[in-house]
Amino acid sequence: MKRILFAALVLAAAVPALVTGVVAADGQPGPRVSSGPHPITLDVPAESTNREIVDDVKRVRNYADQPPLIPHAIRDYQIDLNINKCLTCHDRRNTEGSQAPMVSVTHFQDRDGQTLGTVSPRRYFCTQCHVPQTDAKPIVGNRFRDFDAVLGAGPAKEGAK
Ligand code: HEC
Ligand code: HEC
Repeated sequence: MKRILFAALVLAAAVPALVTGVVAADGQPGPRVSSGPHPITLDVPAESTNREIVDDVKRVRNYADQPPLIPHAIRDYQIDLNINKCLTCHDRRNTEGSQAPMVSVTHFQDRDGQTLGTVSPRRYFCTQCHVPQTDAKPIVGNRFRDFDAVLGAGPAKEGAK
């Protein structure tokens, strides 16, 4: 009985140390809520979200085989086994009605370089490579320089998208 009591006492003494140990392990205070400390019942305006860039203007490609960025909204565009919303505009058969640029011939090629009659399965999930943009500020800097800048043939283009 005494032993059990002793063990319980040791545990009780250790628990606070364990808990503070977790919180202060890296010397940092606990997580901060960005909206700041305020009574939980207070209505605080939500932080603004970043706007999608949907101006329909082509973005320059930083190197020749970069997948072009998507300059239009794609929210709710479904891509699954049954439907590929992107292809309803970008497929060879549909570009007359949509006036969208056709997917290039590389999208019809399988991995052996054979050109198929339709878009190759490996190019089916468009957003694997093509991404829309927002006006969010980059979290980390970027010192990318394109080919012309490296050769000194053109203006230095740093911080490209
Ligand atoms: C309603 C028709 C339509 C749909 C659906 C659509 N697009 Fe587009 N897309 C266009 C048109 C038109 C353009 C030409 C630029 C513009 O008007 O926005 C374009 C431009 C693009 C470009 C830029 C091409 C370049 O040369 O710069 C990319 C990449 C692109 N779309 C990818 C996609 C992807 C990926 C999807 C599906 C998630 C998609 N699009 C769905 C009509 C569409
Ligand atoms: C594996 C990556 C990848 C996937 C998946 C992919 N693309 Fe592309 N796409 C590229 C690359 C790289 C380019 C530029 C070079 C080229 O044409 O191959 C491109 C070019 C394009 C262009 C511009 C064509 C031109 O001639 O200017 C359009 C439009 C496009 N893709 C739409 C799509 C759509 C729609 C899908 C889905 C059905 C898709 N892509 C899937 C990588 C991809």
